[in-house]
Amino acid sequence: STRVLTGITTSGTPHLGNYVGAVRPAITASAAPGVESFFFLADYHALIKVSDPARVQRSTLEIAATWLACGLEPDKVWFYRQSDIPEIPELTWLLTCVAGKGLLNRAHAYKAAVDRNTEAGEDPDAGVTAGLFMYPVLMAADILLFNAHRVPVGRDQVQHIEMARDFGQRFNHLYGEHFTLPEAVIEAQVATLPGLDGRKMSKSYDNTIALFAPREQLRKLIFSIVTDSRAPGEAKDADASNVFQLYQAFASDAETTAMRTAFADGIAWGDAKQALFERIDAEVAPLREKYEALMARPADIEATLRDGAARLRERHATPALKALREAVGLRDLS
Ligand code: TYM
Repeated sequence: STRVLTGITTSGTPHLGNYVGAVRPAITASAAPGVESFFFLADYHALIKVSDPARVQRSTLEIAATWLACGLEPDKVWFYRQSDIPEIPELTWLLTCVAGKGLLNRAHAYKAAVDRNTEAGEDPDAGVTAGLFMYPVLMAADILLFNAHRVPVGRDQVQHIEMARDFGQRFNHLYGEHFTLPEAVIEAQVATLPGLDGRKMSKSYDNTIALFAPREQLRKLIFSIVTDSRAPGEAKDADASNVFQLYQAFASDAETTAMRTAFADGIAWGDAKQALFERIDAEVAPLREKYEALMARPADIEATLRDGAARLRERHATPALKALREAVGLRDLS
């Protein structure tokens, strides 16, 4: 079977970018015959950015409820919290010992921090933790532990998956064929969903639209999207417009073509935004209702996560680590 795996960092409230970049394609992929899916909450990754325990816990609950509301069936896929699987940090160390430091130096998140510091005339590593530096190795462990073939993600994660391939290949070269080399799966029309200000929608830019914002708030947020000052009747450039890109991520091909024509014909920004709001709300409203019902029962979510992790450890994680420990020359713990 084909193994599909993806995770979301539990550092905030899930937004439209997470939905179109990861959740929606992952759930679609998991419905295909012959697919075994692994969907998880990356709470170890959250600690790299967030030092507020209440926020990590709240986000974990919100992201779990999001997966479930969007159609994840916990008895058909592996659904778990990263920190419930101690084999993940254990594998992280084994991979750390084969990961090239030079490659990690080039990781986008780390490099961006170094560039910012350098520009500000500070020490390049000022405020940079080893956690941020090691982020791609932890992510490689997530993926390689379960020998995932396909990883549905947004464009921003592609480099990390290439690094996972690199570490896996290096490990295989040294110790025998233990790991499958994963491939990123990216939906072309939503590779990078823009946020309110036109930059990539991201928690770190504070430009997100929460996936399950109440209807009125969703409308307000959509009307606050930054546009150029072209008047109604003036032709608008669809490809340069974040309103259009957002619309495209939620509309059928026919609707997208019609909207492209409307842009060329000079649709008013207010009308384009109203159409966008209606399109998103039509898709999200039924999911929002399920989400709210799930959020009212946190103990059920917790039980689902624990059960998923316990079964997954027994079936995959513990035997995998046993073989890997033996391969590198460590004692058998069983
Ligand atoms: P995270 O939590 O930043 O984002 C979760 C998923 O949402 C996608 N995404 C977007 N896609 C399109 N447009 C956007 N504006 C946008 N913003 C976010 C991300 O690409 C991602 O697919 N390190 C990962 C989590 C992770 C993971 C993994 C993913 C940990 N281990 C193993 C896959 C496999 C992260 O921080 O994603």
